[in-house]
Amino acid sequence: MTLKASIIADRDFVIAPLDRRVFGTFVEHMGRCVYGGIYEPGHPTADEHGFRGDVLALTKELGVTIVRYPGGNFLSGYDWEDGVGPKDQRPVKLDLAWFTTETNQFGTNEFITWCRKAEVEPMFAVNLGTRGPDEARHFLEYCNHPGGTYYSDLRKAHGFEQPHDIKFWCLGNEMDGPWQTCAKTATEYGRIAQETGKVMKWVDPTIELAACGSSQRAMPTYAAWEYEVLDTCFDQVDYISLHHYMRNDSNDIKEFFAEIESLDYFIKEVAAVADAVAAKRRSKKRIMLSLDEWNVWYKAHTPTDVKKPGWPEAPPLLEEIYNFEDALVVGGALIVMMNNADRVKAGCLAQLVNVIGPIFTETGGAAWRQTIFHPIADCTRLGHGEVLRLKVNTTIFESKAHGDIPHLLATAIYNPETGDVSVFALNRSTEDAMELSVDLRGLGEGLSIVSATELHHADLKQINTKDDEAIRPTQNKSALAEGTGLKATLKPQSWNVFVLKAAM
Ligand code: AHR
Repeated sequence: MTLKASIIADRDFVIAPLDRRVFGTFVEHMGRCVYGGIYEPGHPTADEHGFRGDVLALTKELGVTIVRYPGGNFLSGYDWEDGVGPKDQRPVKLDLAWFTTETNQFGTNEFITWCRKAEVEPMFAVNLGTRGPDEARHFLEYCNHPGGTYYSDLRKAHGFEQPHDIKFWCLGNEMDGPWQTCAKTATEYGRIAQETGKVMKWVDPTIELAACGSSQRAMPTYAAWEYEVLDTCFDQVDYISLHHYMRNDSNDIKEFFAEIESLDYFIKEVAAVADAVAAKRRSKKRIMLSLDEWNVWYKAHTPTDVKKPGWPEAPPLLEEIYNFEDALVVGGALIVMMNNADRVKAGCLAQLVNVIGPIFTETGGAAWRQTIFHPIADCTRLGHGEVLRLKVNTTIFESKAHGDIPHLLATAIYNPETGDVSVFALNRSTEDAMELSVDLRGLGEGLSIVSATELHHADLKQINTKDDEAIRPTQNKSALAEGTGLKATLKPQSWNVFVLKAAM
C-alpha cells in the first residue's frame, strides 16, 4: 500500500528564525574522542599541532557550528590549570569520571586552536562538581580578559595574545546525577550556579550562561529540579540544559521511532517549567533551551563499555557503531529540534568522534562517516533561515510508549537570503512508501527543485565501515515541482531532503 501525506506551509507563518547553534557537537576528554580522535600527534594526517587532518576535514564536512568542551562527566573533576602552559610541565592525573589516566597534553588552548581551524564556535563548561565560583572566575579571566591581570597575562605568556572571547558557558554538567563527581541537590546546585553565574558575568557581561537541567527526562527529580534550580538562578542564566539519549533496547523500530516524540515532550515540558518560574516573577524573560547532549546511545552501554580496568590512557569507550535505523532516529530528532526553534537555541550531538560519534577512526589509521553523519550534514548544510509552521496531514501508527505517532515527521526552513526552502521529511513507516505533496504558499508560482535526496536502505541494521560507507544519501528521482510546491515519493523508512527555489 502507498500512504498519502501532505504539508501546507506559508512563508508568513514562521515559528522562529533557526539558531544555527542547534547544529553543535561535543568533545569530551573521554575514551578516544580527544586522544586518537581530534588529536593524534604522529598520525599520518596530523598537522604541527597534532590535530588529525582527516578528522578535521570530516568535521568541516559535517558542518557543525558550536562544540562543547571539556565534558561531560569529566568536567566535574577537572582542574583547568592542568591543561594550559608548557606540555612537559602538565600533571598526569586520575580521571574519576571514566576511571582513566588524563595526561593533559590537550587542554584549553589546544581546543581553541582546533576550533579556529575547524571553523566552529567553542562552548565551554566550568567545573561545579569539585570546584566553584573562584576557579570559574579565574578561568574566564584567563580566557576572555584582554590583559593586565594575573590570569589574562598568563594566557599571553602561554602564547595567546588575544582573548579567546568564548561566549557560551555551561555551569557544570549533569549535577543531579549520582554518577557525577560531587553531585548536588537542586538546592545546592541552584545556589552555586547563582553565585558562579553572578561573578562570571561580573568578569565578562557579554557571556551567556546555561544552567544544568536534569541529566535525563527519566530522573526522579525531573521538572522539580528545573523549577528549583531556575527559581534560584533565574536572573543569572540564559539557558537551561537538556540531555537526551535515545535507545532501542527492545529492538522494536516502532518504539524506537517513538523515542523521537519523547524529545518533543521533553523540550515542551522544560520550556513550560522555565515559564512557570518566569510567571511566578511576572517576568518577560524567557529562559531558552540548550540541548547540549543528545544522540542515540544504548549499544555501547555495558559496564566494560563505560569503564576499563587499570586506569588506562584514552581507552576505547562508548564506541557505538551506528546503523541505518539510528540515522533515521537522529534525523527525526533534528526535525524536532528545528520545529522547536522558538525555544531550542543550542544543541550538541554527543559526541563528535569515536565516543558515540558520527565520525569514527582507527588509531594510526583511517577515519570514516558513521550512518548518523548524513542527516546531520544535510541539516547543517541546508538548514538556514526561518522555520515555517506546518500543517501536516499524515497517517499514523501506534506505539506502546506514546500512543498514536504520525508516520510523517517534517520541517521546512525558508532562507530569505537565497529564496530557498529546505524540506526535511522522515517516513516512519517501515512497510509503505508515502506519496507526499508539499504546498508552499506565499512564495509564488513556478518553484523549482534545487536538489532532492534520500537516505534509504532495506536493512535497518546496515552499518558503515571504513571500506564501505553503505549508508549515504542518493538522489530522490521522484521529486517534481508542481505549482506552488512539489510532489515526491518517500520510500519506506527513509530520510528525505528537498530544496526548492522560489521564482524571484
Ligand atoms: O556523553 C557521554 C556522557 O553522557 C557525558 O559525559 C555525560 O554528561 C552523559 O551522562
